[in-house]
Amino acid sequence: MISIIQITDPHLTRHKNTEIKSCKTNSSFERVLQNVVSNEQIDFIIVSGDISDDGSRESYQFYKNTLESLKKPFVSIPGNHDNKDNFKLVFQKDFPNISCIPLSDEWGLITLDSSVDDEEGGVLTDKQIKTAQDLIEASLHKNLILCLHHQPINMGFWIDEIGLQNKDQFLSLILDQPKVKAVVWGHVHHEYQTTLGSILFMSTPSTCYQFGEDETNQSRQKPGYRKIYLYDLGKLTTQVVRIN
Ligand SMILES: [Fe+2]
Ligand SMILES: [Fe+2]
Repeated sequence: MISIIQITDPHLTRHKNTEIKSCKTNSSFERVLQNVVSNEQIDFIIVSGDISDDGSRESYQFYKNTLESLKKPFVSIPGNHDNKDNFKLVFQKDFPNISCIPLSDEWGLITLDSSVDDEEGGVLTDKQIKTAQDLIEASLHKNLILCLHHQPINMGFWIDEIGLQNKDQFLSLILDQPKVKAVVWGHVHHEYQTTLGSILFMSTPSTCYQFGEDETNQSRQKPGYRKIYLYDLGKLTTQVVRIN
């Protein structure tokens, strides 16, 4: 069994005590990660965007120091709040536009950058869609999980105004691909799970504040993370864990 931990939307800031929507996001992120380290098997960590809230270099340095201290492999996917130049200054590399990461002989992860400069909503370019299609077709014997920041299906509340703009194009890419077992995203600060065809679609709570159905009232739900356990024969199980 392989244990994937998804962390999303930390919204880190330059100053460690800055509060966003009544949450000290840096310390909430640390608390969530401490809980992961204490309680979980970690084989791979996915961080699915809005890593920084203010896009500052300091926020990425804090993120890098924290993640690297875990000594586990991780991938960083950008969200609409992220600043690609400052991420690159700290990591000495770009956020991946698209990446295909082997997790085992049986499983692989494809990440997609759905962010668009100066826009809250997301788009996948025709080139990304084509590359993803090529990667799926080349992954002959692998089951796949896909991860991006923006939601590729409607969630049923205000956040849908700023979801993935070309949902239909993305869905038609994957829905007839039996190797694609799951799609997971961030951005919505909200737990959700559904199945379309044979693919599990799921969103994950932020490590800081949560969104509710009314934009003016944020949800009282706690911060959290998602664990995804991958088994042979394309089987997987998943669970969201909340932190008090
Ligand atoms: Fe976010
Ligand atoms: Fe976002």
